[in-house]
Amino acid sequence: MSTVRRLFVCTNQKSGVGEDVAKALKKELKIQGLKKLLTGDEREHVRVQTCNCLDLCKQCKKGPGAALIIYPEGTAYGKVRPADAAELVTRHLGLGQVVERLLIRDQ
Ligand code: FES
Repeated sequence: MSTVRRLFVCTNQKSGVGEDVAKALKKELKIQGLKKLLTGDEREHVRVQTCNCLDLCKQCKKGPGAALIIYPEGTAYGKVRPADAAELVTRHLGLGQVVERLLIRDQ
């Protein structure tokens, strides 16, 4: 069976940081070899997709970083900068751990 995990990154900032975050996440997925995972009989594909506002603007539009949501789990992160991509990929996608310092608790 095949499943898709999607990372939706808001690119609705004037600074363009969301685009940079999406690029950094794609690069890290490739570097860390996590773009396609095989767990038992399950094959998981990870896709990074850009989108407009996620309605998490306090954590995105005016800050130094972008908001993103990872599905299917629905975990939302805010003020994410390109430099955070490696940690998000390693910890959230690789190890299944939430990155507390970027987590948006009240959505
Ligand atoms: S502008 Fe990014 S979540 Fe609204």
